[in-house]
Amino acid sequence: MNWLLFFLLTLILGLTTTSSESNYNYYRLPTALRPQKYFLSILTDLDNPKGFSFNGTVKILIEVLENTRNITLHSKDLKIDVCQISLRKVNSSEKRDNCVNSTAVNPTHNYYILNTCQELLAGNVYELTMSFSADIKTQLEGYYRSSYEDPETNETRWITITQFEPVSARLAFPCFDEPNYKAPFVVTLGHHKKYNSLSNMPVKKTKPHESLTDYVWTEFQESVPMSTYLVAYSINDYSHKPSTLRNGTLFRTWARPNALDQCDFAADIGPKVLQYYEELFGIKFPLPKMDQIAIPDFKTGAMENWGLVAYVETALLVSATHTSLEDKMNVAETVAHELAHQWFGNLVTMKWWTDLWLNEGFATYVSYLGLAHTNPEWNFLEKNSFGDLKSIFRIDAMESSHPISRPIQLVSEITESFDDISYRKGSAVIRMMHLFLGEKTFRSGLKSYLQTYKYKNAEQDNLWESLTAAAHENDDLPKNYEIKTIMDSWTLQSGYPVINVTRDYAAGKAKLTQERYLLNSEVPRSNHKTCWWVPLSYTTQSKLDFNNTSPKDWLECSKDGLSLPKTIGNLPGADQWVIFNTKLTAPYKVNYDAQNWKLLIRTLNSKDFESIHLVNRAQLIDDIFTFAWTGEQDYETALGVIGYLQRERELLPWKAADEHLSNLDKLVRSTPKYGSYKRYVKKLIAPLYEELNGINDTLGSIQSQETTHLKKIAVSLACKYQVSDCVSRSKDLYRDWRSKANPDKDNPVPVDVRDVVYCTSVEHGSDEDWEFLWTRYLNANVETEKDTILNALTCTREVWLLQRFLEMMFDPQDDIRSKNAASAFGLVASDEVGWWLAKKYVLDNLDLIHKNFSPMSAYIAKFLPSLSVNVNTRREYNEFTDLLDSLKDLLKDMKQAVEQTKESMLIEVQWHERKYLQFFQAIQQKLKEA
Ligand code: BES
Ligand code: ZN
Repeated sequence: MNWLLFFLLTLILGLTTTSSESNYNYYRLPTALRPQKYFLSILTDLDNPKGFSFNGTVKILIEVLENTRNITLHSKDLKIDVCQISLRKVNSSEKRDNCVNSTAVNPTHNYYILNTCQELLAGNVYELTMSFSADIKTQLEGYYRSSYEDPETNETRWITITQFEPVSARLAFPCFDEPNYKAPFVVTLGHHKKYNSLSNMPVKKTKPHESLTDYVWTEFQESVPMSTYLVAYSINDYSHKPSTLRNGTLFRTWARPNALDQCDFAADIGPKVLQYYEELFGIKFPLPKMDQIAIPDFKTGAMENWGLVAYVETALLVSATHTSLEDKMNVAETVAHELAHQWFGNLVTMKWWTDLWLNEGFATYVSYLGLAHTNPEWNFLEKNSFGDLKSIFRIDAMESSHPISRPIQLVSEITESFDDISYRKGSAVIRMMHLFLGEKTFRSGLKSYLQTYKYKNAEQDNLWESLTAAAHENDDLPKNYEIKTIMDSWTLQSGYPVINVTRDYAAGKAKLTQERYLLNSEVPRSNHKTCWWVPLSYTTQSKLDFNNTSPKDWLECSKDGLSLPKTIGNLPGADQWVIFNTKLTAPYKVNYDAQNWKLLIRTLNSKDFESIHLVNRAQLIDDIFTFAWTGEQDYETALGVIGYLQRERELLPWKAADEHLSNLDKLVRSTPKYGSYKRYVKKLIAPLYEELNGINDTLGSIQSQETTHLKKIAVSLACKYQVSDCVSRSKDLYRDWRSKANPDKDNPVPVDVRDVVYCTSVEHGSDEDWEFLWTRYLNANVETEKDTILNALTCTREVWLLQRFLEMMFDPQDDIRSKNAASAFGLVASDEVGWWLAKKYVLDNLDLIHKNFSPMSAYIAKFLPSLSVNVNTRREYNEFTDLLDSLKDLLKDMKQAVEQTKESMLIEVQWHERKYLQFFQAIQQKLKEA
């Protein structure tokens, strides 16, 4: 080509070369530019027999902060039409004052780089327009499709939805896909007029499409400034339930038409919680409307898109007849969580994913406050705070854990951060602050933080500043203390401490020391020179003021991070116990000297056991079980503590015990001594089962959620260990159900024990019992019921049924959605027979699994631990770690899950080597005593 002609063409097309590889390889975008506003329009075609696709145009107003010769933004798997790229200076009189002369890509970081004809000069604003297209796939991220079956015609109906968090907006349109680039969005959706279209904002106007018959453009109002991961849109043929909000905000709950009657609960609780948050935070919900929508295929439980929250059906829909209280509370929690994000996350957003916990930890904790307000009878705050602590006491006691706030460079590291550390430890440390600062300071600190950073981004230090200021103003913190010093010790370090309390009974004093608590007893604790600022609350046998959770003192750290010794005085004599960490105010364990444990055991085993607050009874159970595991205490003491459970009727102590008992069960279920373990547990739970009237009661008459949950624990343990009539009653109920003319409508099994009854009946039942349940699965219209059934189907003892079921789970043609398949797989694998099958199945079918599940690595990560449960010896441990190593490629984005699995296995092998005999000696002893 003649160079002159080439040059002219370049001028006309504004482009010389096709994409090449760029050499800019840093994981963050360059800082020379900032998006000011996005105009995004997307045309969706859901009815083309040749395939589903969308195409779009994005116009971005870009402010230049530093001179630069390129525009670097994110784009992934989008076909960008280079001929249609245009770039011009805003407010310029010339038509062609700049252009793009070449483009390049960086596939590692999903960068799309536009090299400009002329330098972009600081202070100017440019308008960049790009056109692009892509298939609407089913991969559950980006702009994707999901489906449901029309019950009348049995036809598949398609809908679309977005899932952008954390880094998938770039799959849907070219953008600056980092949370700190906030900008307003004007979204316009083109679609067939038979569909609804939804986005973050209300509709502004609709007009016919210029060329496509029966197509329309729906333009939405301009949004408030927001991060790209919160943008959302959906094309669907759903129905909705409207709710009213006092201040006029429109609130709607959307679902497939056949599930509209399942929207009532969410449509009621959503607005209530939203209104409560407005009061709590002192900031009105800033958008004119709020939609919540149930999506059949969804990657997580829910996503907090601003003004358009999306949920998996089980997390939004409630059926009056088919949803258990537990599932309903899960819906309430999810709704409260996502609505809390509208402030924590959407209004104020973390600067970078390092501080993801500010989003997730806050949403988690604030949801408990929200539900404590709307449904105080659920005891959500107490129950879930304990649940959070219980789970972090386990995972955060592993060396493979990580700090709440952590450096993040890779996309896989962002994804891995959506874990119990961000959510539950995040929530636990916020609760700790709430309790040591008090209501007034906590609220005013949060309000000022939200006010200061609204529509902007923040990092944890900003929160510490707001809270310190409020605390000093209200005298809720010694003037020489800073929240930052205290909280950095909790958020920048892995793990949590155990406080060792050694009492001097004669002097009425106790010496307190701290060290990191680790489950792996092969690592010397002295390796970990860590120190936490620990608020110390405590009470004594005579004072019993458990409700006073404010710190009486602090365990402090020196400037170089060493723990400073502390002695506490004014303690009682040798006949009275002390308990530290009243109501588990902060995430630490407490170990006492032998005498104090003796005193505690005495009270627990007396009629006065309820003088110890129920949360601290749960704490003592959880602590003593783990101390027996790691050797600080022995199993005789542990069994001494839990013996009192025969009289315990509160939920939380039972929850604590239940977890440890089922853990131990897994460890010993295939050992020759299992028989005596079963006898022991049976004895422990029989009184509770009998007192709650076994399975017999129809739970409808029981009001309290505590009893319902307790009954659930009692019944599932009773059926597992074949206590009393549990198995036969389950089978009776199941037989009764099978005999109904229309079992899909008419189900005599009480809804809150259905999982146990189904599982027990399938376990002890015939092939026909399994088939009956499978048919119910296919016919069910309520997703929570479907989940319950699917889980119960894994309970069969028939190897061939299990094998067939495994194959059905991984067959994309079959009727099991991949999310459910992953959880059912985990259940099969956690069974002693199923484990062999599951392991073999995975090894034989690696490619297939990888193909079907690879975009959903989180699912694989979830069922990994269940494959490791039957590992008891060093040899098995080595075999399994070799296996994991050989699967490196498949598991490359799941480093954290792999490390945690390995460490859990190691800890369990250690238990077998060191504790197995001691444990059974203690069990034998207890059985003899009876
Ligand atoms: N922001 C998350 C959704 C999310 C999770 C996006 C992981 C990307 C990766 C959402 O707010 C959330 O936390 N959902 C929870 C439910 C909640 C009740 C704990 C979920 O999906 O499990
Ligand atoms: Zn969340």
